Amino acid sequence: MTRTWTLSDKPVGNWPDAETFVLRDAPLPDPAPGQALTRTIYISLDPYQWGYKRRGTEPAGAPCHARTISQVLKSRMDGFAEGDFVFNTNGWAEHGLMGEGVWRPGYMVPRKLDPARGRISYGVGMLGMLGLTAYAGLVVMAEPKPGETVVVSAASGGVGQIVGQLAKAKGARVVGIAGRDAKCRYVVDELGFDACVSHLSANLGADLKAACPDGIDVYFENVGGPVFDAVLPLFNKGARMTICGLIAHYGDAPGVDARKAMMERGGPIFAARGVTVRDLFVGDYAATHYDQFLADVAPLVASGAIKYREDIRHGIENVPACFSEMLRGDNFGKMLVQVGEDPTR
Ligand SMILES: NC(=O)c1ccc[n+]([C@@H]2O[C@H](COP(=O)([O-])OP(=O)(O)OC[C@H]3O[C@@H](n4cnc5c(N)ncnc54)[C@H](OP(=O)(O)O)[C@@H]3O)[C@@H](O)[C@H]2O)c1
Repeated sequence: MTRTWTLSDKPVGNWPDAETFVLRDAPLPDPAPGQALTRTIYISLDPYQWGYKRRGTEPAGAPCHARTISQVLKSRMDGFAEGDFVFNTNGWAEHGLMGEGVWRPGYMVPRKLDPARGRISYGVGMLGMLGLTAYAGLVVMAEPKPGETVVVSAASGGVGQIVGQLAKAKGARVVGIAGRDAKCRYVVDELGFDACVSHLSANLGADLKAACPDGIDVYFENVGGPVFDAVLPLFNKGARMTICGLIAHYGDAPGVDARKAMMERGGPIFAARGVTVRDLFVGDYAATHYDQFLADVAPLVASGAIKYREDIRHGIENVPACFSEMLRGDNFGKMLVQVGEDPTR
């Protein structure tokens, strides 16, 4: 038997609660020709998954979407053998099929992982989509120059911690914005950011101004809301802003257009100072930049020059609670739930 979380048949509210998800038992499926059966080791919990659930991308009864790190148990699929570690899309589930004819919300083409190249869990974070997100949004789109000031919000999160370290590697001065003191201290003391301010401070605008005496040249936006409002007056002429995500708005009422409202508030400053604002969708860069990203960044990870903090929880039963904690910002690093043994650790 295997267990899988699905949406319940209750209407989905602005935020998940105890009635939003149901854990269902099912017999283990057998792979058909062209398919492989895998056991899930790590489930990646990411803010965008709430959008899938709210927008109805996942019909009730379908496995809740998530990217996963798994191991092949039984294969009838070319290129994948029993024991291989894979990046795949099992969702919030202990097992999953992949390959020909398999469909579930957000299904992605599986990729074999080489444990010699870094922790297998990095396949959904540092060396996977989140690393590429940071690389594309910062290095490719915003092109930070030595001496420029780069600010990144959600600085200790799965994306933010990579953005800051890549910006340091480009010679920029890096200022993070995070919540709790421990997160702010981590990005400065452990990751080498030049400063970090807390968005929990009543004086966020003044704190950020003091941390950015030469203004802001690049802003990597993960959050929106009051954090964006604190950044806005500090933009320099010719600054670049990458909109990666607006996590402060993921529980807004349906129909609220947070991005549009931000653009209206920012419009006069953007126009007067020639600020370039660009939206990032990491999928646009997967085919064109993933190999380049790995060639540039994987050696820095292997040598320890770039560090990556993961927040690994345990147990399939705990996935919805961990998901809610992540949406509230109670994660500290890239959030994963381990549901099976990782023989590489
Ligand atoms: N564009 C793309 O293709 C793409 C791809 C991947 C991810 N993303 C987006 O990138 C962003 C970061 O993702 P991630 O994986 O790094 O997330 P994450 O690891 O879950 O980190 C999110 C962090 O955001 C902070 N946060 C949460 N609510 C907040 C609020 N209301 N105000 C201020 N800070 C808040 C929390 O840290 P603190 O305690 O420090 O506040 C939380 O730990 C998200 O918006 C995500 O949707 C976009």
